[in-house]
Order: sequence, then structure tokens, then C-alpha cells
Amino acid sequence: MSFRAIVILSALGLVSAQQTLWGQCGGINWTGQKTCGSGAVCTYLNDWYYQCLPGTSTSSRTSTSSSSTRISTSTSAGPAPTGRVGKLPALGWNSWNAYRCDINESKILSAANQMVSLGLKDAGYQYVNIDDCWSNINGRDSSTQQIRPDFNKFPNGIASVASKVHSQGLLLGIYSDAGTKTCAGYPGSLGYESIDAATFSSWGIDYLKYDNCYVPSNWADSGSYSDWGQSKSATRYRQMSSALAAQSRPIQYSLCIWGNAQVWTWGASVGQSWRISGDSSPTWSYITGVINKNVGILGYTNFYGHNDMDMMEIGNGALTLAEQRTHFLMWAALKSPILLGTDLSRLSTDQLNIIKNKELLAFSQDESVGAPAKPYGTATTTPPEYYSGKSSKGVHVFIMNTSSSTSTKTITFANVPGLGSGSYKVHDMWKGTDVGTFSGSWSTSLGSHDSGGWLITPA
Ligand SMILES: *[C@@H]1O[C@H](CO)[C@@H](O)[C@H](O)[C@H]1NC(C)=O
Ligand SMILES: *[C@@H]1O[C@H](CO)[C@@H](O)[C@H](O)[C@H]1NC(C)=O
Ligand SMILES: *[C@@H]1O[C@H](CO)[C@@H](O)[C@H](O)[C@H]1NC(C)=O
Repeated sequence: MSFRAIVILSALGLVSAQQTLWGQCGGINWTGQKTCGSGAVCTYLNDWYYQCLPGTSTSSRTSTSSSSTRISTSTSAGPAPTGRVGKLPALGWNSWNAYRCDINESKILSAANQMVSLGLKDAGYQYVNIDDCWSNINGRDSSTQQIRPDFNKFPNGIASVASKVHSQGLLLGIYSDAGTKTCAGYPGSLGYESIDAATFSSWGIDYLKYDNCYVPSNWADSGSYSDWGQSKSATRYRQMSSALAAQSRPIQYSLCIWGNAQVWTWGASVGQSWRISGDSSPTWSYITGVINKNVGILGYTNFYGHNDMDMMEIGNGALTLAEQRTHFLMWAALKSPILLGTDLSRLSTDQLNIIKNKELLAFSQDESVGAPAKPYGTATTTPPEYYSGKSSKGVHVFIMNTSSSTSTKTITFANVPGLGSGSYKVHDMWKGTDVGTFSGSWSTSLGSHDSGGWLITPA
């Protein structure tokens, strides 16, 4: 941005004293403008983020008053900006874990076809996301400065892929980086946020995964911040957030920031999900490690803002079926995005049954409860084994067996938040069947590294 532009913008800020359309207007620790200009209403999206959305109100509304509008769950009038998509954890597929840089149009379109033919779309999966290595590695168009597709990999361009994916009722995601290059060395978006957001929007992109490689030294965080939302990392990510919000097309924004800069404290004011760890691997130690990391910060996940435990490894490596069940169940219970990361055509029936489980997906995608399940009781293992959470159907308990030594897993109803000492009906979410009615407690057996989920309702 030029010096002149900065002077003009700051002058505007001083004169208007009201936030512009799509701008932030409130949330925890927000110190900027709390009222919106005419034609916009300051609207609650989550505790950390209120946004000026199109609309009118009879009185001036501010985020500090209880009169700020709570966004309605089903209405979506007009073009929705970033912040009106991503209420629930994203469900979809991403190319990286399956193909790394070896991607092309056929592989992406084939993943979209598989999502439909395998029933994944019907189960709720929506996004087909292209990861790194899709662009022309030699750089931007020298006159327009636009990022360009690699036409060897995508002979018809990205807009053509988007329109084919859309025609199947799915959405298309793409990838860029808040640095000078992507992790694999392709053009990054730092300094080109507006051009790139406009390009992605014009292609019909619905989701952006934004990575964190090649950060120039003048953009590196040095030392600590009392408010990491003011860090240079947050600023790099916010620049793209503003650029996306300026597009008429709603683009869900996924911050791939590897758990840096305490992103969970400010992520919901910038995007709809944020990575809390480095890249996933198909190992039990990754799965338990990232669950344990998430356990300490679950209070930050709610509607429009989700701790992201990274893409799924079901179908990859040497995870046992029990470990794959736990991988899926815990991502659903903790409301992480669930982005499948394998060649879908090679999934077994058992694996498909895991990722299509209706009741776990319904917990993840509950329209009326945004909070994830949380550990209850006194944990004696790392990560904890017992979790509970609410959905619109009632109280759920999730248990993962972290050990290979004998123990008894007992649900004592009175210890579960929201339940008491009476009789309860126990319903198995994996099987979709009722187990029975029990008084006081119920015990079950889980194999090593396996997991279960139950809906527990008053008898
Ligand atoms: C808000 O600011 C206070 C004081 O600076 C700080 O202690 C707290 O952690 C901040 N909260 C969030 C969610 O950033
Ligand atoms: C994509 O890669 C596959 C396998 O390497 C190949 O068969 C196919 O022709 C390629 N498609 C394009 C459009 O390059
Ligand atoms: C956890 O797995 C181990 C090893 O298979 C088994 O011995 C133990 O009983 C399991 N725990 C529960 C509660 O099922």
C-alpha cells in the first residue's frame, strides 16, 4: 500500500468513526469501531467476532449492547461474505495427504466424482480442496500480477474445475500462503492479497487454505505479545481475511498456521478454522498428541471458529481400524474440520462406514450447539479418555481407549455434566442402536486404541 493510500485510509477512519461493511465491529478484546455505517448491522458471529453485515436496524446497534443481532441459522440473503460461511466444521476432501505435489485436473475431478458416487456428498461432505502445487511455479503474470494455474496440470484452468465441481453440488477450495512462496516454492500471496482474493473469487473458489511458509524476516514475530491478535502473524492472516471479505463471493478461510502465535485466541476474528499443530501423519502418536493439544484450548471452538486438528489420515499408513475409528470419532466430537486425505477410490467398506457414520457427523454438524465435547472427570491418561458434550438430541459421552492394558470403562451418569443419578437410555452412535436402560452407571469394553460414542437420555 502506498503512503498516500495509508494517509487517505486513516483520514477516512477518523472522519467516519464507523466500521465499514464486512468489517469487524466487536468481540472479546476488540478495541476498534463498534458501530457500522448505514446499510450495515453489527452482527454476532461468535464471542470473538462481530461483523458489519448488510441490513438495516431502527436503532444504532453496537456489539457492547445486547441488541446486536445474532445471526440466524438458516437465512442467507444476498451474497455472503467470509464470516457467513463456516458456521460448522468443514467437511470435505483435500489433495495433499493423498497426492502431495503430484496433482492435476483429473485427480481433483475424480475425487469430486468419488465424493458423489461413494455417498460422501449425501453424508454431508462438501468441499473438494486443491492443496499446494497447483499454480505456475515460475511466478505471476508480469502485467496483471495475477497468480496463474500450471496449465500442464490444469489444462482448462481452475475456473473450469470450479464449474464442474459446482455442477455436482460440491464446493471447490484452493491453497495459498501468507509468505513470499508456498511451502513447495510456488508464488505466495503476501503483499498480493487483494489481487489473489479477487482472482480466487472470479474463478468460483469457495474455500482458501492459507499456509505459513517463507515469511520474510520483517514479518517474523519477535518476542511475545500480551495480545497475540496484534502480532505480525495475525496481521499477515488478517490482510487476506479483509481481502476475502471484500469479495462478493463467500470464501471460507482456513488458517494453516501450525498452532503458532496462539492463533486460537484470535483465529475466530480472522477466519473460520485454524490449525493447532504441524502437519498430520498417519500415526497413533500424531492422533493422541493433537487431541491432547486441543483439550487445553477447546473453549475457543464454537460456531464460525474451529480448532483444526488437520486433515484425515484414514486410508493412509498403517493405522489399525480401531485407530481410524478413534481418529474420526474424536475429530467429530471435538468439532475439528474433517477433510479426507486419501485416494477415495481405495477406501474399504469398513473405512467408508467410519467416515459416513451419520450420528457422529450429526454431532459435528449440529446447527444449534456449537461447543465441542470436552473431557469430564479426573483424567488419569494423556490425552483424557472420557468426554461429554451436548447436541440438539441430548447429552453424549465419547470414550477413547488410550491404553493396551486392562481397565474398565464405566460411565457413571452422575459424573457426566447434564446427567444425574437416575436411569438413562444408552444409545450406541457407531451402531445407531439402543443398548438398553441402566440405573446409575453402565460399563463397556473397548479394544486397544478404539473408541465409542453414546447418546444418553433420561429413561
Ligand atoms: C484480552 O486482553 C487481556 C488483557 O490484555 C488478556 O489478558 C486476555 O488474554 C485477552 N483475551 C483474549 C481472548 O485475547
Ligand atoms: C493426471 O495424472 C494421471 C496419473 O498420473 C494421468 O493419468 C492423467 O492423464 C493426468 N491428467 C492430466 C490432466 O494431466
Ligand atoms: C482397552 O484395550 C485393552 C487392550 O485391548 C483392553 O485390555 C482393555 O480392556 C480396553 N479397555 C476397555 C475399557 O475396554
